[in-house]
Amino acid sequence: MFSDNDKAFAGEFLEKVVRKISVMAPQIGGNFPTTNSNTGLWDPYGKTADISSWTTAFWPGMMWLMYLKTGDAMYKEYAEECERKLDEAFDIFTYIHHDVGFMWSLSAVADYKITGNEKSKARAMHAATILAGRFNHVAKYIRAWDHSSEKWAIIDCMMNIPLLSFATKIQGDPRFRQIAEAHADTVAKTFIRPDGSSNHIVEFDPETGEVLATPRGQGYDSGSSWSRGQAWAIYGFILAYLNMGKQEYLDIAKKVAHYFISNLEEGKLPRVDFRAPEEPVYYDSSAASIATCGLIEIAKAVPENEAKLYENAAIKLLRVLDENCNYNENELRLLENGSSAYHKPNGMHMPWIFGDYYLLEALMKLDGNDGRFTVHN
Ligand code: GLY
Repeated sequence: MFSDNDKAFAGEFLEKVVRKISVMAPQIGGNFPTTNSNTGLWDPYGKTADISSWTTAFWPGMMWLMYLKTGDAMYKEYAEECERKLDEAFDIFTYIHHDVGFMWSLSAVADYKITGNEKSKARAMHAATILAGRFNHVAKYIRAWDHSSEKWAIIDCMMNIPLLSFATKIQGDPRFRQIAEAHADTVAKTFIRPDGSSNHIVEFDPETGEVLATPRGQGYDSGSSWSRGQAWAIYGFILAYLNMGKQEYLDIAKKVAHYFISNLEEGKLPRVDFRAPEEPVYYDSSAASIATCGLIEIAKAVPENEAKLYENAAIKLLRVLDENCNYNENELRLLENGSSAYHKPNGMHMPWIFGDYYLLEALMKLDGNDGRFTVHN
């Protein structure tokens, strides 16, 4: 159980975040913010976003959380507008990849769970069917991306597989959950290293499932330790446990969490890569907010005498995240110092919408309501 002091801190933090989002929301509306570099280099916070991007549902997901928190119909309308616009990504299809779980869990699944909208349920099933279609039945992995090799799977994809168990739950057909479980088992065997760190990418022989390589990905190098990937592993494996109930997934969630916690520096954000050279120093606030969500769920899943470790780590991360929030109501950005990848200098130390989303989700969890759209069970 979080202490009263921790709960009071998290409650005040949530109030500040809700206040800032309430100022941002009418300016962004039913659009798709990704980042705001203040240079116009990326998108002007939502108006020109690529509809097929993996980041499109983080804003509607935030709008649903804000609707749950405040009851203000304005947020519901923005979320619904985004969800309708996302149909275009189904129509284009070409660029749809494994990230349909992010795109339609935080939009259509959220809508269905909150309003019972049948059209949203159909969208969720459509997305789950596309995701299931990416499964390699021989090598037993969900193929990542489209711009890359058909041999690649990535750690991020653990976050998409709860959509498959949700599809089984609402349709009764076990195929979706079976694919989710087979993929998670492959990730457990091939991505998670003995010390609890994880690969970002694993390259398989798609005809046999043999591991061929572990390419670099968004971290410093092959064999290094991309912190957001590690955060996806923490949250992804606890979600797999919550959705599929296998003890092994909880054990892995704990193991990858222990590695993450032991690599944090007191009072600092996680470095972009835990195994990069000492200099230059790059941080990633989104790794902190994603990991916090996973740590809170682990704390709820383990016996009470184990929970404190995860709760303390979550609260420490939240305190650092608070220091990295921009509460200036004249600036259209919330969580600062997110980073897209170690080798992308122009995506470094900027606000990224996924960091904002998981920060709000973490704070909502401590407020007793996370919407349960990421945690599908
Ligand atoms: N899923 C892509 C990323 O975490 O950057």
